[in-house]
Amino acid sequence: MKLSSKNIHLAVHESDPVFGSVIPPIYTSSTFIFPTAREGAKRFAGVSHGMIYSRFTNPTVEALEVRLAALEEGEKAIVTSSGMSAISLTLLHLLKTGDTILAHKVLYGCTFSLITNLLTRFGIKVKMIDFRDINSIKNAIDPSVKVIYFESPTNPLLEIIDIKKIAALAKKNKILTVFDNTFAPPPCQYPIRLGMDVVVHSLTKYINGHSDVIGGAVIGSQKLISQMFSKSFIDLGPCISPFNAYLILRGMTTLEIRIKKQSESTEKIARFLEKHPKIQKVYYPKLSSHPQHLLAKQQMAQFGGVLSFEVKGGRSAGEKLVNSVKLIDLAVSLGAVESLIEHPASMTHAKMGKVELEKSGIGESLVRLSIGLEDTDDLIADLKQALAKI
Ligand SMILES: Cc1ncc(COP(=O)(O)O)c(C=O)c1O
Repeated sequence: MKLSSKNIHLAVHESDPVFGSVIPPIYTSSTFIFPTAREGAKRFAGVSHGMIYSRFTNPTVEALEVRLAALEEGEKAIVTSSGMSAISLTLLHLLKTGDTILAHKVLYGCTFSLITNLLTRFGIKVKMIDFRDINSIKNAIDPSVKVIYFESPTNPLLEIIDIKKIAALAKKNKILTVFDNTFAPPPCQYPIRLGMDVVVHSLTKYINGHSDVIGGAVIGSQKLISQMFSKSFIDLGPCISPFNAYLILRGMTTLEIRIKKQSESTEKIARFLEKHPKIQKVYYPKLSSHPQHLLAKQQMAQFGGVLSFEVKGGRSAGEKLVNSVKLIDLAVSLGAVESLIEHPASMTHAKMGKVELEKSGIGESLVRLSIGLEDTDDLIADLKQALAKI
């Protein structure tokens, strides 16, 4: 099945064997009856498939897990309460004291903080380098490196990192790769197809797409995800509510058409901003001015709805702009039907601190824009009137 058919049909009929409802029902039950003691024991032993308790899984949550595994071309998925719980579950499961995690120097702010603050408290070492330079990754690899972690496009600078090359290097050195695909879910790019071992997501963003749920997911091979489930997930307990799983199932049915429209609109807006005299620089991988435009074209089919730009006049000009938009909302998050604007240095990436922000090139005048499904001309008119106020 192609992407849109999978997103709409997969697992739907199996999830309601009683009435055959067209959409998956919401099972709110926290626990499930075992027909016999022996069957209960078999379910706990993992030799019989069936529900146990909703912190483990639940029919509505499982319907979403089946669809997400298919979406990312993995074998199995675990759905979690947030993108951050998916990331923390994955890293806590894969790493132990003495191991090193090798990560790109720019990550989503809370992921950066998780890796550099929380993981280090457990004796896990961290090396953060520029993944755009494959030689620097080669040089950083030593026997203690157990996980390579990155995003592409990165948040918020939209840097592109060569997924295939890193996958090959990691496989050669028997290191697991974990990739955050929140910024460019299918149909934009398929990291598992490009060689990544584990994909994590904030479902809060494009996959749900309607700014009404927080959720996350981890996707990978049957073996790795099953081990993560039994050894870490059920003990840590970051499960999602069945109602939220249902909302995400509903939201993701339109993922492909939303991303197509968002990508088209964002390209037009990026070209408008690039020509505007009050704009210093625009970061969007579809633009030929983007330093990794050719690589982006190789590994991405669509470029998504997020772009960043620097306004001439520094922090105060950026502030004036984000305070002056009318149609676009001043709020963090991305990938939803509403267009949102934010200031990464003081908001989403503030946890990186001034020094790391400067080192990573996230300046005071950088503004991040997430384009929704409003009319493109109306969005351009809104930006035009806000820029005129600077
Ligand atoms: C790239 C990326 N990964 C992970 C997250 C965390 O997701 P959540 O807010 O669902 O925990 C975010 C949130 O903005 C993000 O942008």
